Amino acid sequence: MDFFRAIWSLFFGNPELTQEQKMQAIRSRVIPQDFIHKVARCETYPGGGPKRFVVPDACVDWEVTFAKYAPVFYEAPILGKQPVWADDPKEIRKIEYNRIDKACNVDRTSAHGVYVVTQEGFPRNPLGRTGIEGRGLLGRYGPNHAADPVVTRWKRNSETHEVEHDADGNPILQFVAIRRKDNGLWALPGGMVDPGEVASATVKREFGEEALDAMSLSEAEAEKVKQDLDELFDAEHAVVVYKGYVDDPRNTDNAWMETTAVSIHDSDGHLFDKFKLQGGDDASDAKWADYTPGMELYASHTNFMAIAYEFRRGQLEQ
Ligand code: BGC
Repeated sequence: MDFFRAIWSLFFGNPELTQEQKMQAIRSRVIPQDFIHKVARCETYPGGGPKRFVVPDACVDWEVTFAKYAPVFYEAPILGKQPVWADDPKEIRKIEYNRIDKACNVDRTSAHGVYVVTQEGFPRNPLGRTGIEGRGLLGRYGPNHAADPVVTRWKRNSETHEVEHDADGNPILQFVAIRRKDNGLWALPGGMVDPGEVASATVKREFGEEALDAMSLSEAEAEKVKQDLDELFDAEHAVVVYKGYVDDPRNTDNAWMETTAVSIHDSDGHLFDKFKLQGGDDASDAKWADYTPGMELYASHTNFMAIAYEFRRGQLEQ
């Protein structure tokens, strides 16, 4: 397909870009290609963990020799209790990396291609050294998959229904934000993909649990919310904003976060009116927030918002 597009553009100019090509162009503007993880090298490991072995920028890449490298081994005490969301260390030899691990019902593939598994049988962080060995706070060796719903609408004047603009004339995008209980930061209402679950189901489930407090609803109300979400998050409306590595403070040399951020845009401005936003589960609060470039949000969520903003603005201007 790309070959034909290339030939076509040689003779007839640039054809209409596909949605994914437009998204790809925006992604590479927001997230530089030569990105080096930083948060994954934060001085002290979160949740009461140890100090990381210091890895200078120039030594992050596994290909660069770093003879002095002595990462600190750390696995959080909770992993010792063998929670259902974590790998059993006794079974580590049996883990099937770089594929869907059928025994554990866990997706061990990475959006960044095939990752290295060392001779000792440990997967290697595809973005490089972090100063910590083991799983830290993460349950799975290798990629730990999450999913994030990016639910947006244009801010509109309540009487005229016209899109509102900021002082520089840029249209104002609003998004559903939750406040995380663990660190008080505003974030997208995302969460971990459950065993056997696909990311498109996780975004709906997490949106329900964290932004609508669906876990406190009656069975009938929860079923209604589920049906409404199935309609709004259907394949036609959902656009993948980002899929891949997250520069997360919990990452280690052997376990790291990856996410799929999915954008659902309420172009009409009323589609989500039926829902009462209310923080639930890991969220203490939920609201429609105005997006401002560079605003502080949890993890890489500012980047996902920046990509969604550019993409949706392009649609608005069409
Ligand atoms: C959060 C997601 C976030 C991911 C990576 C998960 O625990 O729920 O919102 O994108 O971690 O930081």
